[in-house]
Amino acid sequence: MLQVTDLVVAYGSIEAVHGVSFEVGQGECVALIGPNGAGKSTTLKAVCGLVPIKGGDVRFEGRSLRSLPGHEIAHLGISMCPEGRQVFGEMSVLENLRMGAYSRRRAGGWQSDLDEMLGLFPRLRERIGQKAGTLSGGEQEMVAIARALMARPRLCILDEPSLGLAPKIVDEVEQILLAIKARGVTMLLVEQTVSMALRVADRGYVLEAGTVRLEGDSPSLRGNPEISNAYLGH
Ligand SMILES: Nc1ncnc2c1ncn2[C@@H]1O[C@H](COP(=O)(O)OP(=O)(O)OP(=O)(O)O)[C@@H](O)[C@H]1O
Ligand SMILES: [Mg+2]
Repeated sequence: MLQVTDLVVAYGSIEAVHGVSFEVGQGECVALIGPNGAGKSTTLKAVCGLVPIKGGDVRFEGRSLRSLPGHEIAHLGISMCPEGRQVFGEMSVLENLRMGAYSRRRAGGWQSDLDEMLGLFPRLRERIGQKAGTLSGGEQEMVAIARALMARPRLCILDEPSLGLAPKIVDEVEQILLAIKARGVTMLLVEQTVSMALRVADRGYVLEAGTVRLEGDSPSLRGNPEISNAYLGH
């Protein structure tokens, strides 16, 4: 479904991603893991058209996204739940979720999707009229995930959904990710909680300093001593 080939991304004269290749198949959940500054968010932004691609290519269902603007990429069915959540703080939970539905090709049916999202996130149902900026971190993450899903994405990209959340809430996020996966949504997941990422994802790639260092299915990455020493030692 998604093929990233020799991707190069630079900020001005500084290259952050130096030829990254990976792919995500239909219905798969693929994790990108790696230390701070490895280029994970930059890679996701390049897929979504939020930073220019300097070299290589990103193909979605065979079509190159290289020269497409972000809103056209969203219309193709790629939706992003960004790092740091970025909910619209002055808008209510309901308004945030409606915003998510805007990138859909057909506007209809958003109310039934809203009901589905509120079933998946009962806590948001209780807070539907509350300003998103006044929600707790975990609740804001739920808004960000639900907003991304309101676009009915074919590919849902999530950048560190568990960042800054208490362990109990991280467990809740894990359950939510598993529920989304069970609905057949194709997912590309960046996570610093590597143990969680490798429980949710089918396969993973380890990015270090802008290149892919390792790749494999989740059980083999979990069993790899380099991974367990660097990322699972807690
Ligand atoms: N807007 C920007 N301008 C200049 N450099 C940037 C910009 N965004 C990211 N970088 C640099 O690109 C590199 C990769 O950053 P990126 O945010 O992709 O890392 P990351 O793997 O997502 O890290 P983290 O785990 O901390 O979120 C870093 O060296 C960072 O300083
Ligand atoms: Mg990041």
